[in-house]
Amino acid sequence: MNTRLKVNEIHCLDCFELLNLVDDSVVDLAVVDPPYNLKKAEWDSFATEQDFFDFTFSWIDALLPKLHDDGSLYIFNTPYNSAFILQHLVARGMLFQNWITWDKRDGMGGARRRYSNGQETILFFTKNKHHTFNYDDIRVPYQSTNRINHAKTKGILKNGKRWFPNPNGRLCGEVWHYSSARHKNKLNGRVRSLGHATPKPLDMIERIIKASSNKGDLVLDCFAGTGTTAIAAKRLGRNFMCGDQSAEYVNMARERLQSEVVES
Ligand SMILES: C[S@@+](CC[C@H](N)C(=O)[O-])C[C@H]1O[C@@H](n2cnc3c(N)ncnc32)[C@H](O)[C@@H]1O
Repeated sequence: MNTRLKVNEIHCLDCFELLNLVDDSVVDLAVVDPPYNLKKAEWDSFATEQDFFDFTFSWIDALLPKLHDDGSLYIFNTPYNSAFILQHLVARGMLFQNWITWDKRDGMGGARRRYSNGQETILFFTKNKHHTFNYDDIRVPYQSTNRINHAKTKGILKNGKRWFPNPNGRLCGEVWHYSSARHKNKLNGRVRSLGHATPKPLDMIERIIKASSNKGDLVLDCFAGTGTTAIAAKRLGRNFMCGDQSAEYVNMARERLQSEVVES
């Protein structure tokens, strides 16, 4: 395990400083929710699109050597930015697994010249084909309950074989419906401040960690914000290395870690 950066702590460090302190090939799973250049905060604002992509590709290049050969990488961003990030990862020899669409179930913007935005992208890449993928741990309920109830007793004939539904639900698809933290925190329809512009829903990060790591594995997040990845990792018995450049967010994340973690 890594020797230079304390595990299971949230560090107040710039992403490059943090990644510099992580040994090569020790990270089993990286869950990375970086700036999107949407000007939602000072840390999310870049002078030009080129500056944004220079920054993005630099942290990706600093992160990739830290991933274990069987490791997995998830990167959040807008669909537009993700199209460029995908190309960069492919050029670096990473293996594309999924383009996950997160339907945020939030109020949409007031676009009048195009469709309103209500989604974000999560790119899922691995280093090779031997990555962990615990599909049984992230099954979701079947949609057509009538048909499934019928199939439970009698089965459904498929290609000459009788198929019975899995009691734990169907395999998880690549369109995810999770209400945004902003939406969940609304009171009587009004948005309330969360103290951070873009925290991610804890249940969504838990899905990623359950699927792409095992107990005792090391999870990395170098843009930790309010500490959602650290909390999910700890709850699920994984180790974590997390950091954010903002002392304010790091304090918030450390407090959340104290108050929200009940190990399962
Ligand atoms: C999209 S937010 C992450 C939110 C987080 N996933 C959560 O659930 O709270 C991105 C975070 O990156 C941090 N950040 C921006 N630039 C950074 C840098 N160069 N090094 C480290 N952190 C940075 C910001 O302070 C911000 O908290």
